[in-house]
Amino acid sequence: MSASAATLTTRPAWQALAAHHEAIRDVHLRELFAADPERGTRMTASGASLFLDYSKHRATPETIALLVALARECGLVERRMAMFSGEKINITEHRAVLHTALRAPREATITVDGVNVVPLVHEVLDRMRAFATAVRGGAWKGFTGSRIRNIVNIGIGGSDLGPAMAYRALAHFAQRDLTVRFVSNVDATDFAEATRDLDPAQTLFIVSSKTFTTIETMTNAAVARDWIIGALGDPRAVARHFVAVSTNEHAVREFGIDPANMFGFWDWVGGRYSMDSAIGLSTMIAIGPDSFGEMLGGMRTMDGHFRDAPLEQNLPVLHALLGIWYTDFFGTQSAAVLPYDQYLARLPAYLQQLIMESNGKSVTLSGARVRYATSPVIWGEPGTNGQHSFHQLLHQGTPLVPVDFIGFMHSLNPMGAQHDLLMANLLAQAAALAFGKTAAEVRAEGTPEALVPHRVFEGNRPSSVILAGLLTPATLGALIALYEHSVFTQGVIWDIDSFDQWGVELGKTLATRIAADLAPSADTAPAHDSSTNALISRYRAARG
Ligand code: F6P
Repeated sequence: MSASAATLTTRPAWQALAAHHEAIRDVHLRELFAADPERGTRMTASGASLFLDYSKHRATPETIALLVALARECGLVERRMAMFSGEKINITEHRAVLHTALRAPREATITVDGVNVVPLVHEVLDRMRAFATAVRGGAWKGFTGSRIRNIVNIGIGGSDLGPAMAYRALAHFAQRDLTVRFVSNVDATDFAEATRDLDPAQTLFIVSSKTFTTIETMTNAAVARDWIIGALGDPRAVARHFVAVSTNEHAVREFGIDPANMFGFWDWVGGRYSMDSAIGLSTMIAIGPDSFGEMLGGMRTMDGHFRDAPLEQNLPVLHALLGIWYTDFFGTQSAAVLPYDQYLARLPAYLQQLIMESNGKSVTLSGARVRYATSPVIWGEPGTNGQHSFHQLLHQGTPLVPVDFIGFMHSLNPMGAQHDLLMANLLAQAAALAFGKTAAEVRAEGTPEALVPHRVFEGNRPSSVILAGLLTPATLGALIALYEHSVFTQGVIWDIDSFDQWGVELGKTLATRIAADLAPSADTAPAHDSSTNALISRYRAARG
């Protein structure tokens, strides 16, 4: 059974939620906390070493029960089983969705088209392990015999954001005599700045592209090939300085990379769900195969929690349902992710693709226009930096923005009282958002009357607090899998295909056409709309 798009808003559970929303939308979190002294400990859940406090949400146990009922009515349990068992739930591309198979234990069996994919996954993992060990230990040499000191991942979107995020997140565990960089943008500045201080003889490029046709990646890869050949003076250098991660062996061979130096994955791994596939090769080289295995273990544990925990205590399900509650009933249009950990600086960018490319859709599985809001805009920055920037809007702005605070009990870099101060700020922000400061409290501080409205914090601004012990590879894996499954859960309820991305295609096609118009050899009048034509003419004139 799947959710029927046309009927989502007429489902009994949806209707019940709409009525419930009418009843509680103006209730303040101050009242909810006053009414239930246990609320702060009751509205919590844990799994896969993560703890979720969702008590500071504008929700009651009844809200959660109604949301869970909606999830059941929409067929979450059945669709979850369909995903885990390899059914082709990406219907517009007729593909299975099996990022969970990437972290399945060696002895598991998961079949796609009659083939058990788990041995394939482990065969690639074993090859990655051998290669990463050779690079880390210096056994893999560059063309001139130099040891590899620099790894440059060339990729974009899911072939960049996951590895770039994970490298930063797990820098503490990285082999520090290796430099790992990421080139994604077709803007030549990206390549130029990433390589300007690198010795080509010591540099290994990982060309990461599921399709091996993405224009940005192939352009940068060609530039990198020229850079290596130019510096080392021999095309044979490519074999020692390039490896590929792709599903497209033919294109890898065409580029000049020996398929023996290619690490494969499969069409049932979506780009934005691929950081634990061979796309994670740079991560594995940086942190080592054992730590990479621990990251997979954390993901696997969260997969098990998502699959087996009751929906009412299921972290990804709760996370997803609360998101639906705000997006579809409170009408919120964005959500912030605020990790109180500098290592997680790229997590919001990673989640932007994971969430918005997955659920930024407006037609249902059957192609009908949705009659409800889907993915919010995702944004964020590490705390405490954001506090001195956009938190003003979170506290006193007109939009309601639900927040995910992410924090850790222990620091990987303990220094004096800094970690206590960091966590005090996280807890303070969540409390300030929830409870605010009333006019009476502001007046009681002796505030001049004219300033009172400016200094009032209305509160009632919701947040989740996600806590873990320490930012380890396993914790990161669990956190990523939590978000992956939250995205899936929301997609099931919205009845959309969370695993295609047709919305990125039009711009690519147009860019190819416009690039021809911008080329120095272009001599015909551009034939686009009047705005684009005028802009092209202006660009041509400026370029002479
Ligand atoms: O343009 C969007 C997209 O297709 C993403 O979904 C994907 O992660 C990215 O491009 C990169 O694709 P590829 O790995 O095939 O180069």
